[in-house]
Amino acid sequence: MPVDAGKLPDAQLLDGRSRDGGATAVAHPNIALVKYWGKRDERLVLPYTDSLSMTLDVFPTTTSVRLSPGATTDEVTLNGVLAEGEAGRRITAFLDLVRERAGRAERAVVCTSNTVPTGAGLASSASGFAALAVASAAAYGLRLDATGLSRLARRGSGSASRSIFGGFAVWRAGTDAGTDTDRDAETVMDLASHAEPVPVGDLAPALVIALLDTGPKAVSSREAMRRTVETSPLYRAWAASSRADLVEMREALRHGDLAAVGEVAERNALGMHATMLAARPAVRYLSPTSVTVLDTVLRLRRDGVPAYATIDAGPNVKVLCRSSDADQVSAAVRAAASCPVAVAHCGPGARLQTGDR
Ligand code: DP6
Repeated sequence: MPVDAGKLPDAQLLDGRSRDGGATAVAHPNIALVKYWGKRDERLVLPYTDSLSMTLDVFPTTTSVRLSPGATTDEVTLNGVLAEGEAGRRITAFLDLVRERAGRAERAVVCTSNTVPTGAGLASSASGFAALAVASAAAYGLRLDATGLSRLARRGSGSASRSIFGGFAVWRAGTDAGTDTDRDAETVMDLASHAEPVPVGDLAPALVIALLDTGPKAVSSREAMRRTVETSPLYRAWAASSRADLVEMREALRHGDLAAVGEVAERNALGMHATMLAARPAVRYLSPTSVTVLDTVLRLRRDGVPAYATIDAGPNVKVLCRSSDADQVSAAVRAAASCPVAVAHCGPGARLQTGDR
């Protein structure tokens, strides 16, 4: 059931009770309408700019975490296959953080299954780390509200901070100023950077997702954003314009003005890709078919259908439109790009499966 963007279920709250039998959580991906691109602190995952997204009702990730007393390593299974290399290391590093906060040492058995293709610029790390944050915090007995869960998820993957919430969410970059003398600067920075829900007016949006290429991307978004920040002469200009975009986006959402939301989202995303194209060496996620879909979106607009494109770290194009136009937009995209499409609406925030609450 799509969630009405104005009527979100309460965010998840963890009571601090550890679940020795383990816990399972479900989270959905989110697509940013004002993008996160560039970290000012890699370890704490602190971004340069605020970002704003819509959580989807498709492609959920389900993750279970069970403590494994006596084991000397974590065992991580990703879509039925034992995770090795970078993916496994990121999950273990995340669990180390949870263990440190919980003051516990047990290793864990983690099973995660994505219904979205992993690593294809379809936000699998957002749903993945949001589900892992909720499941692991519950299993190890952390007491956290939605803000705390968002901060925790952020440490796994920046965009995951937003998937803790349903509907629309803004992730605040936070500040570097350590004004609170009782706390160290790092804690102050960590506390200030989390997502929160965004109030929206009467808006019934759909995202038509053109599944152009669902294979893993050649350059990870982590590496691509690092290279962009370090080498692209356009990065600072985009970051400045993105701050202005966020102000306009919030206003457009409050008024339920889909055309304004779409215009800001499209220019913000194309600007982000411009920064990457100017990186050295260039990062190019757009494929010829991505450009074909961008042309289709322009044609739809000329024909009077409000449709706007956004693209993440991959070639797949997501088209924002009214729910009532989703069939027409899907048909146009499918015809132009000969690709499968998925239609998403606003979805719920990350939560424990009913039996684990
Ligand atoms: C283009 O959240 O995957 O989707 O924090 O390095 O894990 P890390 O990056 P990630 O980057 C997402 C980038 C984006 C834009 C967005 O979701 O805001």
